[in-house]
Amino acid sequence: MEEKGKKKVFLLLLVMFSTFQGCFSAASQLSSKIKSTQSKTANSIGSTAVFPITGNVYPLGYYSVSLKIGNPPKLFDLDIDTGSDLTWVQCDAPCKGCTKPRNALYNPKNNLVPCKHPVCSAIHSSGNHQCESPTDQCDYEVEYADHGSSVGVLVIDQFPLRLTNGSVLGPRLTFGCGYDQSNPGPNQPPPTAGVLGLGVGKASIMSQLHSLGLTRNVLGHCLSGRGGGYLFLGDDIVPSSGIAWTPMSSSSLEKHYSSGPAELFYGGKTTGIKGLQTIFDSGSSYTYFNSDAYNTTLNLIRKDLSGKPLQDARDERALPICWKGKKPFKTIRDVRDYFKPLLLKFTKTKNVQLQIPLEAYLIVTERGNVCLGILNGTEVGLGNLNIIGDISLQDKMVIYDNEKQRIGWVSSNCDRLPNVDRDYNEDFWQPYAADFGIIEDNYPAIAEEINKPIKRKSSESEL
Ligand SMILES: *[C@@H]1O[C@H](CO)[C@@H](O)[C@H](O)[C@H]1NC(C)=O
Ligand SMILES: *[C@@H]1O[C@H](CO)[C@@H](O)[C@H](O)[C@H]1NC(C)=O
Ligand SMILES: *[C@@H]1O[C@H](CO)[C@@H](O)[C@H](O)[C@H]1NC(C)=O
Repeated sequence: MEEKGKKKVFLLLLVMFSTFQGCFSAASQLSSKIKSTQSKTANSIGSTAVFPITGNVYPLGYYSVSLKIGNPPKLFDLDIDTGSDLTWVQCDAPCKGCTKPRNALYNPKNNLVPCKHPVCSAIHSSGNHQCESPTDQCDYEVEYADHGSSVGVLVIDQFPLRLTNGSVLGPRLTFGCGYDQSNPGPNQPPPTAGVLGLGVGKASIMSQLHSLGLTRNVLGHCLSGRGGGYLFLGDDIVPSSGIAWTPMSSSSLEKHYSSGPAELFYGGKTTGIKGLQTIFDSGSSYTYFNSDAYNTTLNLIRKDLSGKPLQDARDERALPICWKGKKPFKTIRDVRDYFKPLLLKFTKTKNVQLQIPLEAYLIVTERGNVCLGILNGTEVGLGNLNIIGDISLQDKMVIYDNEKQRIGWVSSNCDRLPNVDRDYNEDFWQPYAADFGIIEDNYPAIAEEINKPIKRKSSESEL
């Protein structure tokens, strides 16, 4: 039977590499080079690219942006993922498990990135990355926490961008042309045509824009609970006050946007669960707790529900734990008397709290049941990791500040772009300004990198 609510976890688990035998774990995935990437221009720049977001937590299970790539530019809907670095699109190659993008598959034209390229080294950095020949193509293979994966080759191409300072630029950025995708379990291929990698590593689009001197190394998103929202790369629209900031954990600084330790509260009372390390991952539809925190949360909720007119809804397929009422529920408001808010208190910094109201951990399904949007991370192989996914990031501006190594959030109406103190044309303030950040113009042809066809790793088909 098909699951109605889609869930995915784009959190990088593995990177494998063809000229490097074997694979290595996330723990060693991105080695020590990140701290030195702070650009020399970091203090003299201050522009931002803003993109409207589409999607929702339920039933779609993703939030994406439409980006134009290439010359002439073609539109790609990419899942926004702060849990991994590599951006990739569906490649025009005999493709397994591919979703056709809106315009066309990405067609590489003599723009393969050579193996010696810094982005190639960054995605394979463990010190073991070796090029047989520096002009070899750069193959990649990534696997996400939900066991979805992409295999392909790195290319470089233009990303036409409109910045908030009015300039229109076409930086050349490096990304993957994915020709072999697989999706976990019974899920259908996602409707998005790839992933926009916004993670902490050098290969991420954010780091690339930063090292080109175009923006500060700060990004953020505002995911609306009504669907949609916006993404920004740069720090222009970050409010100067009112944000709850917590430092990124230095131990995992180089892998994920992680913070902690945090203490979990339910209904204003401590659950006794402390010391949680949390990863902020826009590529995950739902939130995952380790089995300790999950068990405790579920037990508290169940205890609270006893004597209330809610019953287990075992026939609901959207998520594992669901309840039905006497009548089908229409909105979360219908269940507000039965559940209490959760809260994470980040104990390293005084009074920094992430409020998790009912909307941020429950969904009401198409059948009118209410389901727990927190899943058992240990059960899906996340071990002790806790992931704060889209459901708990909704209706907040969430900021990933790589300049100051901190993560911040503030309640926000994500249906409108924030009012920044600047002269822009009125369109800028319209929600979902259709082409903001994206431009139509063609760009002068890019210089060609290496003039070779792609060599596909499996021998099934030649390009
Ligand atoms: C806008 O910012 C970009 C990148 O920081 C810069 O290259 C460009 O010159 C700026 N444009 C204006 C009009 O200031
Ligand atoms: C979680 O609860 C299950 C039963 O619901 C139990 O089998 C398991 O041992 C518990 N795990 C932890 C870590 O508390
Ligand atoms: C969560 O997953 C772990 C590992 O599979 C399992 O031991 C535990 O019982 C699960 N918790 C619940 C409440 O199902």
